[in-house]
Amino acid sequence: MTGLLFRTSVLLGVIGMVLGIVMGIRQDFALAPAHAHLNLAGFVVPFLSALYYRAVPEAAEGVVAKIQAAAAIVGAILFPIGIAGVAVGDHDRFMPVVVSGSFIVLLGMLLFTFVVFQTSGATKQGAHK
Ligand code: HEM
Repeated sequence: MTGLLFRTSVLLGVIGMVLGIVMGIRQDFALAPAHAHLNLAGFVVPFLSALYYRAVPEAAEGVVAKIQAAAAIVGAILFPIGIAGVAVGDHDRFMPVVVSGSFIVLLGMLLFTFVVFQTSGATKQGAHK
């Protein structure tokens, strides 16, 4: 699961950066919000959570962490697609994608908050501070 988070995040980061370069070449910045959220929700958030799971392995063990990882990945893909669709496509058709994407991203963050609160005091010896 941690490996999947790492791999997905760097792939989404590459796509987000390529989108940034394409925007620059075309001098058309209509997709800037989609680019920003692809990089932040797609690269930064999953990569940071994967780093946390590597630093605190017991945090990755529960089912909550697995649902968090799935929500982070699904939301990171759905949300920027919805933002792009609303910005340059069919506004009404893509609005449900933005709304569902944003709630899935939020769900992932809430679950990650829960995991961090449960495990951030853990040490390698298993003691909690
Ligand atoms: C190859 C790397 C990147 C390129 C070429 C690039 C390019 C761009 C461009 C052309 C814009 C639009 C600027 C404008 O509206 O005048 C932009 C906006 C932005 N980028 Fe990037 N970017 C890159 C990487 C990143 C990364 C890694 C992040 C975040 C982790 C990021 C976050 C943002 C944000 C927050 C905005 C503002 C969006 C907005 O105004 O709606 N970018 N970027």
